[in-house]
Amino acid sequence: MGKAEVRVSNKISEANTLPSWLYTKPEVLEVEKSEIFSKTWQYVGHVSQFNKTGDYITTEVAGRPIIISYGKDEEIRAFYNVCPHRASRLVEGDGNKAVFTCPYHAWSFKLDGSLNRAPNMKGVENFNEDEFCLKKIKLEILESFIFVNLDPEATSMSSQFPDLFKHVRQHDLASFKKVRVKETICKSNWKIGMDNYLECDHCSIVHKALVSKVDMNQYEVDLYENYSYQATPLKGFSGDFDLGEGGRYYWLYPNTWFSFDPGPANLSIHQSIPIDHKTTKYVYTTFFKSDEITKEEEELMAIDELVRQEDLDICETVQKGLETGVFTQGRFSLTEKCVHQFHLLLQKDLEMVLPLEPATSSTAF
Ligand code: FES
Ligand SMILES: [Fe+2]
Repeated sequence: MGKAEVRVSNKISEANTLPSWLYTKPEVLEVEKSEIFSKTWQYVGHVSQFNKTGDYITTEVAGRPIIISYGKDEEIRAFYNVCPHRASRLVEGDGNKAVFTCPYHAWSFKLDGSLNRAPNMKGVENFNEDEFCLKKIKLEILESFIFVNLDPEATSMSSQFPDLFKHVRQHDLASFKKVRVKETICKSNWKIGMDNYLECDHCSIVHKALVSKVDMNQYEVDLYENYSYQATPLKGFSGDFDLGEGGRYYWLYPNTWFSFDPGPANLSIHQSIPIDHKTTKYVYTTFFKSDEITKEEEELMAIDELVRQEDLDICETVQKGLETGVFTQGRFSLTEKCVHQFHLLLQKDLEMVLPLEPATSSTAF
């Protein structure tokens, strides 16, 4: 007989993992989109993509189409890519435009989102142009990395992620050059990838080549309210190692990683973007100190790809295992602190809208 489902306890030594149905039911993803992805800071691009007035990119956050544009005043802004006339999509792809003109009835909008022209509206009464601007989205630039948050009430990144990058900030992160973007599809729920990246118990088993170079005895984990940090030096270096002399990994709830790998000075941003409840798109954006990629940097990217593939293969087997119906909940090892934190954050965000086990006095937040 299977065990009854229990709530994730605050105490890792007694805690069970989140129940498997959160990873296998399509309706859970819809809740996650509204309760998590629509209310958290999501990475959408880099300032190097905006060099002159009118440069724009389009992307999606929580399934909503958005535009990021560079105005005459040199401000980078985010808007929903939805025409206020009749909700058509305004623009596609990336490029440069003086104004955004809707392909449906040719209303046009300035780069700051205000209505430029509404040609079919002559003679219409009580038409207030100010009410027909593009709908603005909160945007913040952290170092040189652009994030948006669909929640108009969201608090700033600095208040949600205090001291982020404190171990690497002296390396002038804004000077890093974006050199490559790679996308991979994994046939597993987005949370499986997070669970995997947030612990290194599997590293010496799944990533033997990588682990042979680093000093796992000095593996460090720090938890903060909305993010976590993992680090390990290469063999022969101490905990205060310089960029490239070890790995430093910052995870921002819910789905973004800033990874500084051992090797030539580098940064890769990993995003896990759910396509459906059992398909996830991983977007990896790699940065180096220069646009010219060296042989050493090519080798680093090849190692990264191998490690990602090793993780991806495991994640797909986990999804299949969860779908068998014979697995209800797992347990945490005491070194899986970051996974435990992730499950507690998820539980907190989902419990108002999903039938999770209620809190008791011993497990209440
Ligand atoms: S829907 Fe855009 S102009 Fe009509
Ligand atoms: Fe891994």
